[in-house]
Amino acid sequence: MKMRLFKLSPWLATMAFTVAAIILVVLFRYSRNDGIWDVGQEFEAVSTGLQKGPGYPPVFAYWISGTGGEVRKVLRLLKAVYHPRNHYLLHLDAGSSVSERTELAQLVQSEKIFVSFRNVDVVGKTYVVDRTGPSAVAATLHGAAVLLRINKNWDWLITLSSSDYPLVSQDDLLYVFSSLPRDLNFIDHTSDLGWKEYERFDKIIVDPSLYLDRNSHSFTATETRSTPEAFKIFTGSPWMILSRPFLEHCVHSWDNLPRKLLMYFTNVAYAMESYFQTVICNSPEFQNTTVNNDLRYFIWDNPPKLDPLFLNQSNYKDMIKSRAAFARRFVEDEPVLQVVDQKILKRPTNGVALGKWCSVLSKEQNGENADDQCSSWSDINAIKQKKAGKRLKSLVLELVSDQKMHENQCK
Ligand SMILES: *[C@@H]1O[C@H](CO)[C@@H](O)[C@H](O)[C@H]1NC(C)=O
Ligand SMILES: *[C@@H]1O[C@H](CO)[C@@H](O)[C@H](O)[C@H]1NC(C)=O
Repeated sequence: MKMRLFKLSPWLATMAFTVAAIILVVLFRYSRNDGIWDVGQEFEAVSTGLQKGPGYPPVFAYWISGTGGEVRKVLRLLKAVYHPRNHYLLHLDAGSSVSERTELAQLVQSEKIFVSFRNVDVVGKTYVVDRTGPSAVAATLHGAAVLLRINKNWDWLITLSSSDYPLVSQDDLLYVFSSLPRDLNFIDHTSDLGWKEYERFDKIIVDPSLYLDRNSHSFTATETRSTPEAFKIFTGSPWMILSRPFLEHCVHSWDNLPRKLLMYFTNVAYAMESYFQTVICNSPEFQNTTVNNDLRYFIWDNPPKLDPLFLNQSNYKDMIKSRAAFARRFVEDEPVLQVVDQKILKRPTNGVALGKWCSVLSKEQNGENADDQCSSWSDINAIKQKKAGKRLKSLVLELVSDQKMHENQCK
């Protein structure tokens, strides 16, 4: 297959190739003992009693990314989305200091549940991520590769940033996903590129984050290229819920497409809004697994800026009405998050969100130790659905209904 994307001046082609090679090296360099802090490794793992398969809830993997100054934000989000079934990989990019990453690992390690279930890991050896450049794709692929290696149980990967917050409890999310085919991918996408065709895909950018170890911004090369014809470009929200089979396809498969596209997107601005969309919609075996929605609530300013608006109390009703699973963006300690904690997650100030798995003591017994309700537990295969779960389920059922799903796939 002849691809126009390779008709670049020699230096640029060399650059593109070098950078793609670096991404691949980054992907395969890490193992559990190299760069990932396995919090709790010196403790004996408990027998979790995790059951999988028909009749049992699925398992999620979470890739939670943040930067310097966001240790507490990331920890709060972790507690809000925590469930012993799941696996969590926390990443603070190179905008953070070693002491911040150490602090995050220590804070995780100081929680009995996290240590007992050994299902929270922290990326210790970090790297630079410029979310406007392809290094954000490299980071996500790295997170997926690590999670695929260290946990054989998860069914879906959910990507979150430190500015996100859940609108449903994990019990509710597990409940809604229990009845879904495990190969579905929630990925917002369109091939209607509009202004992006020229601004994003015809311009060539170079993201120094891929080979430097300090924060840097992508820059645009003077040369342009025409939009490729060998594949169709799709674009959409950078936040998604991807199935394990699809991520194995991206990370491990011998199929050439994910790697070819990685080379192309190495020079595309906001690659995180196009890479996975383009891979999935150009892969016949995965096209039919797409659900065209990211299950997130956010609002844009008018005219839209680079990021959606920060949400606050005045948005609470609309957040609930949206039936979404997550909302973004929130500033640290935004008061509306406390409302979400109390009304939806039943999360005590410093504790993890309450679930059916917690063995809740009665109020009198528990007294002042409200934070400790989940420090002992019972069956982690049992979940209890609540109102928020019903809302999300009605949205998801609409999205996956035969007709709606086909109408919106990779168009
Ligand atoms: C995907 O769906 C289309 C339309 O229903 C169908 O023609 C095609 O065979 C399906 N592809 C796969 C791999 O199942
Ligand atoms: C809350 O958000 C709304 C709409 O997004 C905005 O107009 C308002 O100024 C915000 N309020 C505060 C206190 O930040």
